[in-house]
Amino acid sequence: MSICLTSHEQPGRGRLPRIKVLAVGGTIAGKGTDASRTTQYEAGVIGIGQLLEAVPQLNRLAEISSAQVANIPSFSVTGDLWLRLASRVNEELADEDCDGIVITHGTDTLEETAYFLHLTVKSSKPVVVTGAMRPATALSADGPLNLYNAVALAADPDARGRGVLITLNDAIGSARDMSKRHTSTADAFGQRDYGLLGWLVDGVPRYYYDSVRRHTIQTEFEVSSLGSLPRVDMLYGHGDGARELVEAAVAAGAAGIVHAGMGNGGMFPDTREALAEAVARGVVVVSASRTGSGVVTAKPADRLGRFVTPDNLNPHKARVLLMLALTRTADPGLIQAMYDIY
Ligand code: SIN
Repeated sequence: MSICLTSHEQPGRGRLPRIKVLAVGGTIAGKGTDASRTTQYEAGVIGIGQLLEAVPQLNRLAEISSAQVANIPSFSVTGDLWLRLASRVNEELADEDCDGIVITHGTDTLEETAYFLHLTVKSSKPVVVTGAMRPATALSADGPLNLYNAVALAADPDARGRGVLITLNDAIGSARDMSKRHTSTADAFGQRDYGLLGWLVDGVPRYYYDSVRRHTIQTEFEVSSLGSLPRVDMLYGHGDGARELVEAAVAAGAAGIVHAGMGNGGMFPDTREALAEAVARGVVVVSASRTGSGVVTAKPADRLGRFVTPDNLNPHKARVLLMLALTRTADPGLIQAMYDIY
């Protein structure tokens, strides 16, 4: 007699995987007054208990426990919350009874939180970040299926070692490369330069690629003892730029500045001059691109040691890495080496 195992029955383990769901808020926990108006609602309102109860099918996938870490719209996240979340994830994963983590989060800054965890989690167990583009009260709310898929992914032993994963709308992406690229559609997340890592079909993950950049247990970032993160400000490049915003960032105590430049890192001359002066005062400046795609290459002046380039990270992910890099060193050469491997 042949025995058929579904993907979630694990031979030799004799139990369902144990998954911890950590809730941070966002639209997945959002509530509106009119189900047909999918952009009119308050994010970060409904508690994780209620969100889990709405998807009883989760109990077929895993033994679930949960905790409400915060309940906020994700445009309110802070570096302190990232530190708290990373510590919590590391603590949970150190428990041998925990097989994986799901984080429910607002989509606006989901990719930044996911990338922060990708660089700071010290475990190979699956960590999956998900959210929703439509509030829980909307027609065709996408949160329940995204949550189901996230638990299925976190419960899958084959998800181990792939770094922090993001799933929305059936897609599986790497926290390094997946980004929000639409204001409101359910398929808002994708990877512009590369393919997705895979897809979930009927709640079963199918993988096709991996990110080869270092993450989780391969990084040098240890945040458990940090009280705060260094201040890194971001400036958006445009023609007719000025030096005053750079000076304001330096005066406010920025240890780093990410400039989201035009094209391949282009800077308005006055802005460029002010940024070079900031570098001379010990501020690390990353010359990123506002295009949303492609590698920023160093210019001849940058090779004299002025600006660091972020490889192909978008400006907000470049900011995450710069905050972490500055916990290790303020040497632009060493920080450049980090952008080249992470
Ligand atoms: C948020 O990021 O909290 C609001 C938007 C969303 O979750 O889709």
